[in-house]
Amino acid sequence: MGKTHKIAILAGDGIGPEVVREGLRVLDAVEERFGFATERVEYPFGTEYWLKTGEIFPDAAFAEVQEMDAVLLGAIGDPRAPVGLIERGIIGRLRWDLDMYVNLRPIKLYDARFCPLKDKGPEDVDMVIVRENTEDAYVHPPVFHDQGTPDEVAEQPMRYTRKGTERVIRYAFELARTRPRRQLTLIDKANAVRAQDLYTRVFAEVGEEYPDVRTDHAYIDAACMWMVKNPEWFDVAVTTNLFGDIITDLGAMIQGGMGVAASGNLNPEGLSLFEPIHGSMPKAAGKNTANPVATINAVAMMLDHLGEKEAAAAIDCAVAELLRSDRVRGLKAGLHATDEWGSMVLEQMAAAPAA
Ligand code: IPM
Ligand code: MG
Repeated sequence: MGKTHKIAILAGDGIGPEVVREGLRVLDAVEERFGFATERVEYPFGTEYWLKTGEIFPDAAFAEVQEMDAVLLGAIGDPRAPVGLIERGIIGRLRWDLDMYVNLRPIKLYDARFCPLKDKGPEDVDMVIVRENTEDAYVHPPVFHDQGTPDEVAEQPMRYTRKGTERVIRYAFELARTRPRRQLTLIDKANAVRAQDLYTRVFAEVGEEYPDVRTDHAYIDAACMWMVKNPEWFDVAVTTNLFGDIITDLGAMIQGGMGVAASGNLNPEGLSLFEPIHGSMPKAAGKNTANPVATINAVAMMLDHLGEKEAAAAIDCAVAELLRSDRVRGLKAGLHATDEWGSMVLEQMAAAPAA
C-alpha cells in the first residue's frame, strides 16, 4: 500500500460541487489503480454557507486545512454576496495567508479543432504561465477619499517586494530549465508602471544564474497580441499577479476554453491548492452541463505535486487521448453532460494498458 494523502476539498459555489464530484471520481479510480489513498475532508464554505451562518472561513477550519497535504477547490463566487467578499475571504485568504506564491497555469492545446486561432495546432500552443500570487494590486485594501462626491478619489496600490519578486522569478527559471525549449519570457508593463522596474532588475539578476535558459521580454499589451498572433513564441512566462490573472483567461481561450484550464497555487515550502481557473457560473449550477475537465486536470496537477507521478500522468494521458478522439464533440458547456465527461475520462483510463 502506498501513501495516504490528506486532502481538503472546498467545492464552493455554483458549478463547483458538480465539477469537483467528477474530479473525485477520477481520483477514486487512480487511487485504486496506483495503490495510494486519500483522506478527504470536505468543507462546506462558500456563499450559501455565508448566507446561512454569516461565516466565510472559520478560523478553526482554516487552521485544520493547514495541516492537510493539499487543497482541491471548485469555484467561489455568487451574485448574492457583495462583489469579491467570498472570493477574497476563501481563495484570497488561502493564497495570501498561506503564502502560495506561485500560480502555475499551463496552457496546452490538445487538438487543433478546439483552437479559435486560424492555422494553429497543438505544436503552437504549449506554454506555462507562472503568475505571482501574493502581491500586486490584490493585497492592499482600496482607499476611497470623499466617497460619493464629485471629488472622489479611489486608490489601491500595486506593490511588489524584492523577496516576492525574486522567489517567483526563480521558480520560473527552474521550471523553464525542465522543459525542452528552456525559454522564459518576462511579461510586465515596466514602461508605464515604473514600479515594475523591480521585475526588470530581478529578472536580469536571477537570469545570470541560468545561462542555459534563453530569456525574452514582452510588455503585457504586446504579450496579449503575440499570444493570439504567435502563441508558439511562448514556452514559460513569468508575470505579476494582475497581469497573470488576465493573460491566463486569454490563454484558456486559445487552448479551447475555460472547460480545460487548470491551475496550481503553490507554496513550494508548504501547502498548495489546485483548482480549475474558471469561475462558478451560477446560472449553470446544478444543471449537469459544466465541463469538469479543468477540475480533472487540477486533480492531475495535485497528484503530480504530491509525488503520485504515475497517477498524474495516467490522467493527463487519458484526457489528452480523449480530447483528440472523435468521441468528443467539443469542449463548450453542455455539449457533453458533466457526469458524462467524468465517465469518458474513466473509460479512457481503463482502456490504457496497465502501468
Ligand atoms: C482567478 C480568479 C480570481 C483572481 C478571483 C476569483 C479573485 O479570477 O483565480 O483567476 O482574480 O485571482
Ligand atoms: Mg482570473
